[in-house]
Amino acid sequence: MGTSSGSSVAVPTRDEIFELLRAVIDPELGSDVVTLGMVPDVVISPPDSSGRVDIDVWVKLTIGGCPLRGQIKKDIESRIGLHPAVHNVRIEWGEMTSEERSEVMTKARWSARENAADTEVPQSTRILAIASGKGGVGKSSVTVNLAAALASQGFTVGVLDADIWGFSVPRLLGITDRLEAEPVEGSDKPKIIPNVLKVGAGELKVVSTGFLVEEDTALMWRGLMLTKAVEQFLRDVAWGEMDYLLIDMPPGTGDVQMGLARMLPRTDLIIVTTPSLAAQKVAARAADMARRSFLRVAGVIENMSSFTCDHGESYPLFGVGGGQVLADEIGVPLLGQVPLEPSVGAAGDLGVPVAMAPRGSVGFDGPAATVFHAIAQRIIDDVAPPVNMAGCSARMLAAVAAAFDNR
Ligand SMILES: Nc1ncnc2c1ncn2[C@@H]1O[C@H](COP(=O)(O)OP(=O)(O)OP(=O)(O)O)[C@@H](O)[C@H]1O
Ligand SMILES: [Mg+2]
Repeated sequence: MGTSSGSSVAVPTRDEIFELLRAVIDPELGSDVVTLGMVPDVVISPPDSSGRVDIDVWVKLTIGGCPLRGQIKKDIESRIGLHPAVHNVRIEWGEMTSEERSEVMTKARWSARENAADTEVPQSTRILAIASGKGGVGKSSVTVNLAAALASQGFTVGVLDADIWGFSVPRLLGITDRLEAEPVEGSDKPKIIPNVLKVGAGELKVVSTGFLVEEDTALMWRGLMLTKAVEQFLRDVAWGEMDYLLIDMPPGTGDVQMGLARMLPRTDLIIVTTPSLAAQKVAARAADMARRSFLRVAGVIENMSSFTCDHGESYPLFGVGGGQVLADEIGVPLLGQVPLEPSVGAAGDLGVPVAMAPRGSVGFDGPAATVFHAIAQRIIDDVAPPVNMAGCSARMLAAVAAAFDNR
């Protein structure tokens, strides 16, 4: 018998499992489930013949029927499931007593204040980082089009161009305004105000080094390392309320991803790949990096899928099937296949992504725009639903806050 690959991987300790669970945020309470005391116990089974273990996690919800239960379950399963020595994750649900509940609310309030200094990204913001194994596959195009599609549904969507030196977001969105830093209430340092772009009923809040030129603001950035620059964007930008934050990742660097994992462990990755089967090895590297930084991969988008000419004939110029192969390999859904379409590039050059192109203009209603809107819908419905602040514990938290303030 050969050596099984599983037996060489160390079984996680109880402490390590709790550490992984710290990445699971109760978005309403704005803190992680461990800090909030929502995980009273974790039990690790003895290893099976392949050296892998089952994990039982006890979770106490503030309210049994909390609508976030599904999301918390998914997050717990995906975080712990990422550990190579974990076979099964089981969750036992419980409900807090009213005493425990009020204790959690106090903790949530406290930790919300504690965490405020770390990043300016609100806890209720869903963070999606658009990454790939290699350059030029369409990360930036996907980022701006998804952002536009989400905003067109009324959401406030941040766009962070983490490609510090190779930025393309300003051109793709047709924004040239410099970023200004302004004094902000509650902070001793001035904060950078993002550029705002209205899209339908929603808006984009856009930040890129492309907007930073000379003068006051540039001083803050001079000589910064790549990772430091991204950290600074997360800390020193007055993002304000946001439903989503989309991050256009630079090609091929693991550093930025690691930094992101440290600062915003709840970030979900979306991996962009081309349909070529040969590209999958490279794309899988991005997924592997995600695994090592314990970020969740939320799905794969295949870009530059077959080109359809005016006569309706399809030409798979860059191969066929790569997106599905990669998605299967990582075990995540293929969120969509964006066709190769000249208007995607043309609209980018005009500074109006096809997914927000006004009626009658280049790309509007084209196949690529349709796919971008469908992917956005999937994100909203299933992959990363917006955090509904009208939910159970948020309402209670507001009530507690009001009571505190009345004192
Ligand atoms: N679906 C598409 N159809 C046609 N052209 C596309 C499509 N997607 C992207 N492109 C074009 O391909 C080029 C690369 O796209 P983009 O800049 O979005 O990739 P990227 O992965 O962000 O690249 P980099 O690694 O350099 O940051 C651009 O010229 C863009 O207009
Ligand atoms: Mg790019």
